[in-house]
Amino acid sequence: MAMSEILVTGGCGYIGSHCVLCLLDGGFDAVILDDFSTGRRSVGETLASADSKGRLAEIAEGSLLDPESIDRVFENRRIDAVIHLAGSSQVAESVSDPGKYYRNNVAGTVNLLESMRNHGIGRIVFSSSAAVYGEPKYVPIDENHPLEPMNPYGKSKLMVERILEDYGRAYGIRSVCLRYFNAAGADPEGRSGECHEPETHLIPSIIRSLLDGNRGFSIFGADYGTRDGTCVRDYVDVGDLAEAHLLALRYLEENGKSDRFNLGTSSGSTVREVLAACERITGKKIRAEIRDRRPGDPAALIADNRKAKEILGWEPKRTLEDSVRTAYAWEMRRRGLTSSP
Ligand SMILES: NC(=O)c1ccc[n+]([C@@H]2O[C@H](COP(=O)([O-])OP(=O)(O)OC[C@H]3O[C@@H](n4cnc5c(N)ncnc54)[C@H](O)[C@@H]3O)[C@@H](O)[C@H]2O)c1
Repeated sequence: MAMSEILVTGGCGYIGSHCVLCLLDGGFDAVILDDFSTGRRSVGETLASADSKGRLAEIAEGSLLDPESIDRVFENRRIDAVIHLAGSSQVAESVSDPGKYYRNNVAGTVNLLESMRNHGIGRIVFSSSAAVYGEPKYVPIDENHPLEPMNPYGKSKLMVERILEDYGRAYGIRSVCLRYFNAAGADPEGRSGECHEPETHLIPSIIRSLLDGNRGFSIFGADYGTRDGTCVRDYVDVGDLAEAHLLALRYLEENGKSDRFNLGTSSGSTVREVLAACERITGKKIRAEIRDRRPGDPAALIADNRKAKEILGWEPKRTLEDSVRTAYAWEMRRRGLTSSP
């Protein structure tokens, strides 16, 4: 790929930092725009220190809500394309504070697109979500599944997808929307990993409950019509997700089209299966208790990933156990622990 520099918005967050590592490993230069609202400064410091090949990411601290800070990034560099991950992503918070989601995710993206337009940048890879589909009408979910998001978070992602279509038609900005299912795992070299506050994602929640004195982990609903009664989700390793962004950049460079792709493994795991994987990797029995179902939790969310495989040439390679192993190692390291708890 004949590219010079890629802007990664939200590059100090969980998935963004792995995209930056993947870009650097792939020989790209990367500049990160991040406001550190949920991104981690320690990860930023790691990304900004040269690796063995001498590559490093440049950090431009600023917000998508401040058009001038976006313009400054484009003005001083030769940026070819944007990977846009910055945004707010807590589903429950989006219900209690929808304004934050429409402002940060939707208005922030419009600011970014306007700045791209003004600086003649015509390619963007956008972090969308399986949340755009809403309650599944069938699984595995393909890209033609109806789009009926059930919360402001999912609606904000769908709005951005629609806005990208309009910017494509009107101004020729081409986009790839990547609809991630459940991101999991961490960098095998320990340079980054997941750390949301509050942490609502299953694998880090289980690991934290174990490392916090095995305080007990809640399984919300064990009476679903699934193979063991607990919810099924499609856990896709963050390293595999990161690789898909490079393939999406190549797709945009080689094709005159925009498109959207599911990113999942196409094989779901139940909560009990994830718990069992965590017990195998940690060698500990993890305390778990069954609680009531949570409203709005579908029984199963599984991606049909054939389109990403066929068109992008993407192949998820890491297993659930790989994700649990790296996530556990990351959390241990974050706590300054080196041996078993
Ligand atoms: N984690 C998942 O499983 C998952 C699934 C589907 C979609 N996504 C989407 O992927 C993206 C990344 O998710 P994540 O889990 O890495 O989240 P994250 O919170 O770890 O990362 C988001 C990053 O964006 C930055 N940011 C937020 N608002 C900003 C703003 N206005 N200006 C500049 N920077 C800003 C944050 O500081 C953070 O570094 C999000 O858009 C999310 O909606 C995540």
